[in-house]
Amino acid sequence: MNNAVAGFSKLSKKEKINWIANEYFSTPQEALNIIRNYWNTDEKLQQLHDEFIENTITNLYIPLGVAPNFLINGKYKTIPMAIEESSVVAAASKSAKYWATRGGFKATVIDTEKIGQVHFTFNGDAEKLNAFFNKIKPKFFSDTQNITKNMQQRGGGILDIHLKDKRDLLDNYFQLHATFETKDSMGANFINSCLEQFATTLKDEAQNANLEIEVIMSILSNYVPNCIVRAEVSCPIEDLTEKHIPNPRDFAERFVQAVQIAEVEPFRAVTHNKGIMNGVDAVVLATGNDFRAVEAGVHAYASKNGQYASLSHAKIENGIFTFWLEIPLALGTVGGLTSLHPLVKLCLEILQKPSAKELMEIVAVAGLAQNFAALRSLTTTGIQEGHMKMHLNNIINQFEANEEERHLIKTHFKKTVISHNAVVEFIENLRK
Ligand code: MEV
Repeated sequence: MNNAVAGFSKLSKKEKINWIANEYFSTPQEALNIIRNYWNTDEKLQQLHDEFIENTITNLYIPLGVAPNFLINGKYKTIPMAIEESSVVAAASKSAKYWATRGGFKATVIDTEKIGQVHFTFNGDAEKLNAFFNKIKPKFFSDTQNITKNMQQRGGGILDIHLKDKRDLLDNYFQLHATFETKDSMGANFINSCLEQFATTLKDEAQNANLEIEVIMSILSNYVPNCIVRAEVSCPIEDLTEKHIPNPRDFAERFVQAVQIAEVEPFRAVTHNKGIMNGVDAVVLATGNDFRAVEAGVHAYASKNGQYASLSHAKIENGIFTFWLEIPLALGTVGGLTSLHPLVKLCLEILQKPSAKELMEIVAVAGLAQNFAALRSLTTTGIQEGHMKMHLNNIINQFEANEEERHLIKTHFKKTVISHNAVVEFIENLRK
């Protein structure tokens, strides 16, 4: 079968869905039913979602949960998390509760600088280019006044613009490297609009000055090593004690060693950081922020010293256990999806309408809490115990167990080690 199609985006939604159902399914009606089952019954709300992207056929739900009891800088927060992985919200809640009685989480925004670049080529005298740049630099600011006016009123704007000579990397390659403060907005549109105006100014002025400049592209960078937040927990070693941590010194030492392994061993570091991103992404998504941008920037930061390494660190000093992370986060609490998506608005209200800086702190704390939960399990009971407990529901649902079966399965596996095979066997025996 040739599955190519011409003019698909111009078809109506109904035509698109019919095409998909007929093209890829032997029982098209079943496919249509699934697609329609996930439409919102409120037509206006569905239309809102339809218009977020092109060719929307339906909605893919992922659960939105909350992790309460997060004591952050002395205030309790309930953190909304959008994620499909069964153990993540439970782990976050457990960490939150654990640290709430041990001083809570401390979080600080270190800096909020964003970056954008105009990439161009110039084949000529670099000193002449430098003099030209210094002469026209004020024009970059004056030509973007229309774009920057509102942002300046909110205390943000263009911070600085530098000319960078990159000819050691590529022939004739130069950049305008600009830094921005975008306050409570993530700032992507603002930055890109400024950059495109810089490019126009650069081209026009170069033509007037008879310089041969070719602009290749203008775009923000999702690598924001100066838009950084730090989150930390700490307490005297003895205070780490609880039911599963009978020997706190032993626990603290193993924990620090586990972090050290992720600091030096990239295979472990990737999984270690994935655990941090379980928490980070879930809050980023629930608050309508761009998780791909955050992921790209965070992982680049994890490689900033030339080798991919752990984003978190731990130490024992003078009897005090300290565990912390520093990550770059370019987030917004105004603009974009934050004002469009009713659930995103709701999540921001649950968080008591944070500023972008406060949201950076909350997201970093969610990442640290998740990392703590993972390392605590890994260095004590192992990860599978908790994971499988949460995964049990997925297996039960896969077998479409009825209420009675559900009850019997859950009671049985309260006292028995859970594995996929063991659950399947138990269900099969029940049904014999
Ligand atoms: C699973 O989603 C995340 C973990 O693998 C993280 C880790 O190993 O630190 C448990």
